[in-house]
Amino acid sequence: MIDKKRSKEWFYSQGKLEVPECAKCDAFKVYRLEYTGQYIFEFEIDTGLGGEPCEIDQITDTHLNFVSIADEDDKEVMGTRAVRTWNREGESVKSVIKAMDVAQYADQTVITGDVLDYLSRGAMALMKKHILDRDPEVLVTLGGHELTKQMQTNIPDETPFEERLNMLAEIWPHEMNYFSKDVGDNVIAVCLDNSIGDFRAFQIKNFEADIKRAREEKKIILVFAHEPIATRRNEGAIPAVWEMRGAHKTFDFDGETTIGAKPNDREVTKRVYSLITENADVIRGYFCGHRHSAFYTEINATYTDEKGIHNTTIPQWVEPGNPYLNHAGIVTRIIVK
Ligand SMILES: [Fe+2]
Repeated sequence: MIDKKRSKEWFYSQGKLEVPECAKCDAFKVYRLEYTGQYIFEFEIDTGLGGEPCEIDQITDTHLNFVSIADEDDKEVMGTRAVRTWNREGESVKSVIKAMDVAQYADQTVITGDVLDYLSRGAMALMKKHILDRDPEVLVTLGGHELTKQMQTNIPDETPFEERLNMLAEIWPHEMNYFSKDVGDNVIAVCLDNSIGDFRAFQIKNFEADIKRAREEKKIILVFAHEPIATRRNEGAIPAVWEMRGAHKTFDFDGETTIGAKPNDREVTKRVYSLITENADVIRGYFCGHRHSAFYTEINATYTDEKGIHNTTIPQWVEPGNPYLNHAGIVTRIIVK
């Protein structure tokens, strides 16, 4: 039996190459592994709680695009297949393998949505083989792409929403809307579904309970979701720290398409947004994807104690999509001390 700790030491004994094309940021390190080639963003979170350090690795937007013979009778899938070329024929399996090669050394891996490029039996089979079977403990938040069979067709989905969700539920490794899990001595990892630009009512009581438990047990919460949320800092459009080809150079985190800033945010969404941003004593990071380029922001936040309300910020990391950079693999290592 090969010892995981020794394997990890051996893996990371390889050199770390500079990545000059990525903008520098004090919040994280970025490097490329010298032999195996993956791009790594490394965040360190100091809990001040003591205990053993742990590592959570994030991967996002893997966009598995594959149609198998099990899809041949599905006219929606076959219609998309005719026009959707990005990563077709399972091309992004290459970058999934490379990212999972890194993540195997973490204590926990979380994939923040758009695992599939569009909903097909073929892409689900690739997700099962290369992600779920390889790491049965993986956490996965829903993205918007999992939920549609229509991509670049300009046709609305015909398969009812519930039917699409049920199809995904056949393989999803845990409850899709809300799932939390203790990692190491000090972390509660919370997966929130905001795949359709909204939070869900089901999340409120579970999230409240985890926030209460984090305080009682002296743990921190790291939130994982697909879409970023509003920073409410009035900074205007924020330039990408690293623009991926075909994705965004800038993004306005207080613009009308961001959760928490949308004019039509539902009450449920406002409530979950408040739970994130008003409990910053325990909620210490928000990790997401969706935009495909890399952005680092800080969300205006508060917490309340016996002395009153305190202003602070929560780091928000938008990880770039995985299938870029010649499928080298892109992983965020969150090292909690
Ligand atoms: Fe995506």
